[in-house]
Amino acid sequence: MVKFPEKMPDSLARLLVVFVVLTAVLAIAWVMIPTPMKSVHVQWDNAILREKAKPMRYAGAHACEECHGEIYGKKKAGYHRDLSCETCHGPAKTHTEDPDKTKPAIPATRSFCVQCHAYNPSRPRGFPQINPQGHNPLKPCAGCHNPHDPKPPTTPKECSACHGEIARTKAVSHHVQLECTTCHQAPQQHKITPRGVKPTKPQNREFCGKCHAKDTRETREKLAKSAPKIDMAEHGEKYVCWQCHYPHSPEVEN
Ligand code: HEC
Ligand code: HEC
Ligand code: HEC
Ligand code: HEC
Ligand code: HEC
Ligand code: HEC
Ligand code: HEC
Ligand code: HEC
Repeated sequence: MVKFPEKMPDSLARLLVVFVVLTAVLAIAWVMIPTPMKSVHVQWDNAILREKAKPMRYAGAHACEECHGEIYGKKKAGYHRDLSCETCHGPAKTHTEDPDKTKPAIPATRSFCVQCHAYNPSRPRGFPQINPQGHNPLKPCAGCHNPHDPKPPTTPKECSACHGEIARTKAVSHHVQLECTTCHQAPQQHKITPRGVKPTKPQNREFCGKCHAKDTRETREKLAKSAPKIDMAEHGEKYVCWQCHYPHSPEVEN
């Protein structure tokens, strides 16, 4: 037979009291916490109800076609085809329900367009970007670009209109006398749909060799004569020249 001590030791009794009190406090606390704070499912359900109760603010991408068919058609064929009307005009559900009562906002400031079109290296490659300080400042964008069909208003004459940085780099380089078209064949259509029709780029070492090979027989290029000469067989091995020389600013470090 196991013999219990007649009297519990004081230390154990105190521990027991502490334990009982703690359990009671926790139990009461648990009962007092409201259910939504305890159940994630109740929280989800409530959130859905809360969002459902909000009035709809956006009419959707096709709601404007019915009454603004001309603008809708124009936008659909242009560069802004992937933007919905409400991206620019803001939520317009109330307007579609009663056009005379509420009118959507008209984002006519330069700062609006610049949110998407200001230079920013994190934008996708080739996304049309401008420098807002340099690009026709002080005039509203819509003065030259129809926001519903924003093609550039005139076909630019110079390559520098769109390739300003390359043109400015070349202008202070050893290649300043070379035209862009000496090295790139650029169809006129490139200036109208630049991403659709691309100019050529030099493909091989021999291209630069036309002017720079020490035994060149090039006569059509008047600059071939004054170009510094290299031995094509020895110089730069098998690599294409622009792996070492930036063609728009070919500097040689001494
Ligand atoms: C039921 C027909 C109807 C629908 C649908 C509709 N509109 Fe309109 N909208 C009008 C009418 C009518 C006017 C006022 C006539 C006018 O000024 O050309 C107007 C004017 C506007 C204006 C000019 C506001 C101003 O201050 O001059 C904008 C911008 C506009 N609508 C955008 C939208 C957008 C965006 C949608 C789609 C979400 C849309 N509308 C859908 C009928 C409609
Ligand atoms: C890229 C932004 C943008 C998008 C997308 C856009 N708009 Fe506009 N919209 C504008 C701006 C900016 C103006 C003011 C033009 C001005 O000041 O000449 C305007 C003006 C208007 C006007 C009033 C003046 C006018 O030209 O009749 C209507 C109506 C309108 N937009 C409807 C629409 C509809 C409908 C769509 C979708 C099919 C749409 N917009 C898409 C920016 C946009
Ligand atoms: C929500 C972003 C957004 C806003 C706001 C916006 N755009 Fe655009 N824009 C685009 C996209 C996307 C394209 C198409 C890019 C492509 O073709 O790859 C484009 C194309 C263009 C082009 C054609 C450039 C070219 O390739 O020649 C012009 C010009 C232009 N937008 C002007 C404007 C103007 C003016 C406004 C203000 C009324 C404006 N954009 C507002 C997204 C935007
Ligand atoms: C005075 C007329 C004018 C005004 C104002 C203007 N642009 Fe342009 N935009 C042009 C012309 C012309 C081009 C063709 C390239 C060039 O000559 O710069 C162009 C080209 C563009 C391009 C295409 C660039 C590319 O690399 O494909 C975008 C995007 C653009 N503009 C957006 C805007 C925005 C945004 C505004 C307002 C902040 C604006 N433009 C104001 C005339 C204008
Ligand atoms: C209306 C604006 C515009 C004008 C004017 C323009 N370009 Fe371009 N160019 C572009 C755009 C936009 C791209 C595409 C950039 C991208 O996809 O990253 C491009 C790309 C190029 C490329 C690269 C092609 C490739 O395959 O990578 C070359 C080379 C080029 N342009 C040369 C020229 C030359 C030379 C001229 C003048 C005769 C010229 N461009 C005029 C806008 C223009
Ligand atoms: C000496 C010949 C030469 C001249 C002159 C020249 N380019 Fe290029 N360019 C090249 C070569 C080579 C490449 C390819 C570089 C590569 O693939 O890395 C190139 C690439 C490009 C590209 C593609 C993007 C880039 O930076 O690699 C553009 C855009 C371009 N050139 C525009 C121009 C414009 C605009 C001018 C006139 C201002 C010009 N080029 C003058 C040789 C030249
Ligand atoms: C139409 C003739 C011509 C073509 C094609 C040409 N160049 Fe040149 N290049 C020149 C001339 C002229 C100079 C010297 C200009 C001067 O007097 O500083 C030069 C200078 C240079 C220099 C020397 C820079 C220095 O610091 O002395 C290098 C490097 C160079 N080019 C590389 C290239 C490459 C790479 C290509 C091909 C993408 C190329 N060139 C195509 C005419 C040409
Ligand atoms: C592996 C890198 C590399 C390649 C590839 C290369 N170069 Fe060079 N290039 C250099 C270096 C480094 C110098 C400066 C030292 C020297 O003169 O050798 C130079 C110098 C030059 C010079 C100036 C010579 C002088 O006397 O002033 C010209 C012109 C030149 N390169 C043209 C070319 C051409 C054209 C090609 C393609 C056929 C090419 N390079 C390929 C690295 C390269």
